[in-house]
Amino acid sequence: MRKKIIAGNWKMNKLPNEAIEFIEEITPLVKDTKNEVILCVPYTDLFYSLLTAQNTNIKIGAQNMHFEEKGAYTGEVSPQMLKSIGVEYVIIGHSERRQYFNETDDTVNKKIKAALEIKLKPIVCVGETLEQRESGKAEEIITNQIEKAVKDIPEKEIQNIIIAYEPIWAIGTGKTATNEDANNAIKAIRNKICQIYGQNVSESIIIQYGGSVKSTNCKELFTMSDIDGGLVGGASLDPHEFAKIVNYDK
Ligand code: PGA
Repeated sequence: MRKKIIAGNWKMNKLPNEAIEFIEEITPLVKDTKNEVILCVPYTDLFYSLLTAQNTNIKIGAQNMHFEEKGAYTGEVSPQMLKSIGVEYVIIGHSERRQYFNETDDTVNKKIKAALEIKLKPIVCVGETLEQRESGKAEEIITNQIEKAVKDIPEKEIQNIIIAYEPIWAIGTGKTATNEDANNAIKAIRNKICQIYGQNVSESIIIQYGGSVKSTNCKELFTMSDIDGGLVGGASLDPHEFAKIVNYDK
């Protein structure tokens, strides 16, 4: 049985004092869950969040990184820098990074490899636009993104990635994919993983849904056969709302 992983993506929100307050508030609310809880916070909140989340069941992740270890890349943060302070997860290839910061399938692939090499766990995002969905190309687009993302990554490493299926038209819009559409897209991703890595890997790899997940729709999504939890943006900014999502099965 695959476990459920619920990750918050704060995007460019919360100052360190707000991050500390959030974690202090949510800790008692999620301490008994058997689901995995991750908060992906801005770089400037990482250290404070890690300290505050020590001795809790809350894991901390970053939202991006460079693929090089070091060098003349002004403004960038390396996988080693994240790892050195105790970060465990990193979102890679979020659609906002693909859309606004020229992230490509190739840089996504490089970043996943760099993360895995030092045992940071990537949360790899894929998803189609509304136009692509309406033209019936959604599955082709997302399976293609998956194929390029995992290119040349060996089977023993691939188990350490989490995939997040996030239809772009559902992100921050209040529109959620129907449970069936989300589940079918995730099944298509699982089939692609099966083609590349075989059935064992495809049955054990974690694939989340993301895009306007909230406390009122999470249960129906997370109880679908192939959806292993969620990547949550807006609804992860409030500790009570996010705790309800983590505790969807209580
Ligand atoms: P949303 O964002 O929950 O606000 O739609 C999800 C995401 O972008 O990861």
